[in-house]
Amino acid sequence: MNATTSLSPEHLKTLETQAIAQLNACSNLAELEHAKVELLGRSGSLTLLKRGLKDVPAEDRPSVGASLNALSQAVESVHDEIKARLDADALNAQLREETIDVTLPGRVLPVGKVHPLSQITEDVCRLFEGMGFSVLDDNACPEVETEFFNFEALNFPADHPARDMQDTYYTEVASNVLLRSQTSNAQIRHMSQHKPPIRVIAPGRVYRNEEVSSRKYVLFHQIEGLYVDKNVTFADLKGTLNAFITELFGGNERPTRFRPSYFPFTEPSAEVDVQCLFCQGDGCKVCGHSGWLEILGAGMVHPNVLENCGIDSTVYQGFAFGMGVERLAMLRDAIDDIRIFYTNDQRFLKQFKPKY
Ligand code: DAH
Repeated sequence: MNATTSLSPEHLKTLETQAIAQLNACSNLAELEHAKVELLGRSGSLTLLKRGLKDVPAEDRPSVGASLNALSQAVESVHDEIKARLDADALNAQLREETIDVTLPGRVLPVGKVHPLSQITEDVCRLFEGMGFSVLDDNACPEVETEFFNFEALNFPADHPARDMQDTYYTEVASNVLLRSQTSNAQIRHMSQHKPPIRVIAPGRVYRNEEVSSRKYVLFHQIEGLYVDKNVTFADLKGTLNAFITELFGGNERPTRFRPSYFPFTEPSAEVDVQCLFCQGDGCKVCGHSGWLEILGAGMVHPNVLENCGIDSTVYQGFAFGMGVERLAMLRDAIDDIRIFYTNDQRFLKQFKPKY
């Protein structure tokens, strides 16, 4: 076929029909672009045809040239139409895929609950704040403590048998470094830095080498309280603790008793028991068959302790108390085994609703 024949109007018409058929046969954008390159790209079949123009007799060249351009344009415009359709199809498919079914029920996100120990600590802090006490920051009173703050300054001389009341974990850091056995270290830490009037409470974790049972665990929580001022009496201590216990247990009087006791850092000393709600005083394993659960120790701050902290005991008096947080939670929320607080059992934890 010479140049004239290959560029004859009939042949060009045939080529156009074939090119359009090739484009129409494309079912996706990738195929369409591939076909376009084959036809109109730099080495495309229709592009190459134009190179034959130079062999066309000069007088026919303008009209053949115009026909070739028309062919390219016709193919290009069919390409553009198909592309627009395929683009729209792709968009519609994407929209269909991304359609949101607004009638579907929402996904329920798990909501965390406040641990019962955190909750009761919070409750106790709020009650004492209401009575004018400030809550000390955890960092003010370390859990890894020296014998001096945990015992000595609290009037437990070395080798004093009262140290055996609290079976203490010592560390390997140094022979006088231990895990605090009571939050009473907060009294010394605070009074060494602040002068009366003092009204503080200090919540925290303590450790004792206890035999684990439904009432005892090797770590537990205490909240220490300290009130130092002029003219403070045991009646103030009793009044404060009674008001606190009544409020914590929902305003209902729960049978409680003050018992004389002994702590080296208070004189006189007392312990407060609340009647066991599991047996109503008849005796069960939770209360060790006594009918009562001890919730706190308290007393008038021993003059030696005030003097150890540089406070003149002839001018100032104080009262102090330390309560077991787990015991309070067990009594208020009817939990009969202390170990459950540390098991992370969701069935247990989910029962507690955040109060604030
Ligand atoms: N620290 C004592 C204990 O863990 C409790 C205690 C008793 C704290 C009397 C006090 C207090 O502040 O005055 O057994």
